[in-house]
Amino acid sequence: MKTTRCAQGAFSFLMLVLGVCIVMPTPSHASTSGVTFGPYVQRVKKTAMSILLRTDSAISVRLKYREVGASDWTVVTDSATTEHAFRITDLSKDKRYQYYFQDSDKNRLTSTYTFATKHTVSDDQPLRIGVFGDSGVLSTHQFRIGMQMQWWSPDILLHTGDIAYEEGTLTEFANTFFTPYQPLIAQVPFYGTVGNHDYATDAGAPYKNVFETPTKYSDVEDYYAFDYGPAHIVSLNTSIDYTEGSAQYEWLTNDLAQSDKKWKIVFFHFPVWSSGRHGSTEGLADALSPIFEEHGVQLVINGHDHAYEHNYTTNGVLYLVTGGGGAPLYTQEHENAHSYVFESIYHFLGIEITKESLSIQAIDENGYTFDTIELTQ
Ligand SMILES: [Fe+2]
Repeated sequence: MKTTRCAQGAFSFLMLVLGVCIVMPTPSHASTSGVTFGPYVQRVKKTAMSILLRTDSAISVRLKYREVGASDWTVVTDSATTEHAFRITDLSKDKRYQYYFQDSDKNRLTSTYTFATKHTVSDDQPLRIGVFGDSGVLSTHQFRIGMQMQWWSPDILLHTGDIAYEEGTLTEFANTFFTPYQPLIAQVPFYGTVGNHDYATDAGAPYKNVFETPTKYSDVEDYYAFDYGPAHIVSLNTSIDYTEGSAQYEWLTNDLAQSDKKWKIVFFHFPVWSSGRHGSTEGLADALSPIFEEHGVQLVINGHDHAYEHNYTTNGVLYLVTGGGGAPLYTQEHENAHSYVFESIYHFLGIEITKESLSIQAIDENGYTFDTIELTQ
């Protein structure tokens, strides 16, 4: 049977409503423009942003950007390549910018998108974090969750892993991540973590190729941390060694010890506590929970089990599973004494953070909030 893919804009919304988006075999932007996937933004700082684009042939591109309302564009170019990655460092804090790409002949390659360098967080303007996981199959549910996240309007996005099934190849990332989440990821900085499927090809080489993590230009890209407003956020790779004595364990211990941020959030793929198909990960709580407790981590978010699970707070740490981002859902199959709420529902998490509070909504693909959690300190 000939397959169809969801186009962008109004047509894709219609497809969503009708529920007729079908798996397609080719990358989203393999078009006459020569764009393979993107654009997408990552690594937001108070005055900096990374803006990335892939093309199907090695060309030089022109990135044009300006503050919203400004008359003049700033133009930067690169050398001929298929992997375009611009680190823009002359931005201002708490401003909105717009950008688009041209080829060297000034033909437009992309639409115009906007992003923000928001960093000031207040009761009126909390930091808004969208979190989803286990999405990478190009299902209709992914488009619906992507649309709900766009309406919810997060400042940043976190992904709990298995961004690309089955083997985490470059083609799978193009088809199952960059297709369903345009234009969301063109406007909202994305932070991933390595799931077991993402790790399956060359120890996560395609994941590390397409994403610019905060440790992109260091020796180790598997784990990283960054600050945003009152939050310190850590991404781990649980497909590599995380036990005491490992490099990741030592790095995590030092990283958390050095942070004085009010809120500490750690996200990684394998679940600490779960009653889904895979269940709790043997040895994970023993290895890492003492570090989380010692260094004041309040929230740990995992994936791998394709469901939502809200566990009882244990020694000050709330453990959530958000693995309902689009892959086929799992039911409750394991005993888990920590479980408080388990829902086999496609969903994402909307987290709002101020200096005093952290609130979490679990939101389904129709926009309905089916669980809420409030943390105060
Ligand atoms: Fe997984």
